[in-house]
Amino acid sequence: MKSFKDKVVWITGASSGIGKEAAIQLSKMGAKLILSSRKEKELNDLKSGLSNPASVLVLPLDLTHPETFAEAVAKVYSQFGKVDLLFNNAGISQRSYVVDTDISVDRKLMEINYFGTVALTKAVLPRMLKAGGGHFAVVTSVVGKFGFGVRSAYSASKHALHGFFESLYIELNKQGIEITLIAPGPIQTDISLNALDGSGKPTGEMDDMQKKGMPVDMAVNEMLHAIANKKKEIIIGGFKEKFGVKLKSFWPKLFFKMASKQNPRGELKM
Ligand SMILES: NC(=O)c1ccc[n+]([C@@H]2O[C@H](COP(=O)([O-])OP(=O)(O)OC[C@H]3O[C@@H](n4cnc5c(N)ncnc54)[C@H](OP(=O)(O)O)[C@@H]3O)[C@@H](O)[C@H]2O)c1
Repeated sequence: MKSFKDKVVWITGASSGIGKEAAIQLSKMGAKLILSSRKEKELNDLKSGLSNPASVLVLPLDLTHPETFAEAVAKVYSQFGKVDLLFNNAGISQRSYVVDTDISVDRKLMEINYFGTVALTKAVLPRMLKAGGGHFAVVTSVVGKFGFGVRSAYSASKHALHGFFESLYIELNKQGIEITLIAPGPIQTDISLNALDGSGKPTGEMDDMQKKGMPVDMAVNEMLHAIANKKKEIIIGGFKEKFGVKLKSFWPKLFFKMASKQNPRGELKM
């Protein structure tokens, strides 16, 4: 996928943050878009401000309702005839220690971030294979590469996505299926405001880490480059995020020592 011009891109979590910015940048590049998330009004507002609203379909979708996905896929294929890229971006986070986190929160994170994403992927996959291939981009997280404080359920759900999509690629790359696993560090979005506490309520708090994160336009630009160049995995962030991933792989003892000293809502120090 060297260029996004005339490509059909389905974005989940398009109502805010990374998904919204991806819609803006892809629309400028001439892509045809399907915008999904739960908030229909935000999606319609986004559509009307895009470069070419006539080639944009607003398709409200809740990742916790996989029984609706077949109908959604049918709608997309009847309007566009194909999906070149499914940008699996929707997700929620968590900010609570393991001992304070109700099991229902662990399940909710897995339901949205993992099962919702996997179910939508499986709903699109047969048609992609029939068409000779397609691309799945998945926004995971740098904590999908290593564990981190107050994010046990979130980190687990993102690790699971790496396992699923790497396996999918190994099974199906010869049939034209591409994957790009995108593992960002902190990016300036509302993710921490929407993150759940141990009882399952949104924290409503903006983390220091988030405030000082990478600007969303810069992060999305890097993501789209990685997808266009068919990279299998990319870590989005500065030295600390990239070093953290390497440290965990090559010097796990040191990684765990350093990660245990972190303020889990503060600035990443590696
Ligand atoms: N920002 C960061 O620092 C960061 C770092 C690493 C990874 N990520 C990942 O990046 C992705 C996008 O997050 P963001 O930072 O852009 O945060 P965000 O602004 O909170 O956006 C999250 C998006 O997910 C959608 N969503 C949430 N629950 C959903 C559900 N049940 N069904 C369908 N859509 C749902 C939301 O839309 P509705 O409310 O309209 O449904 C929203 O559009 C997430 O997967 C997140 O884990 C973010």
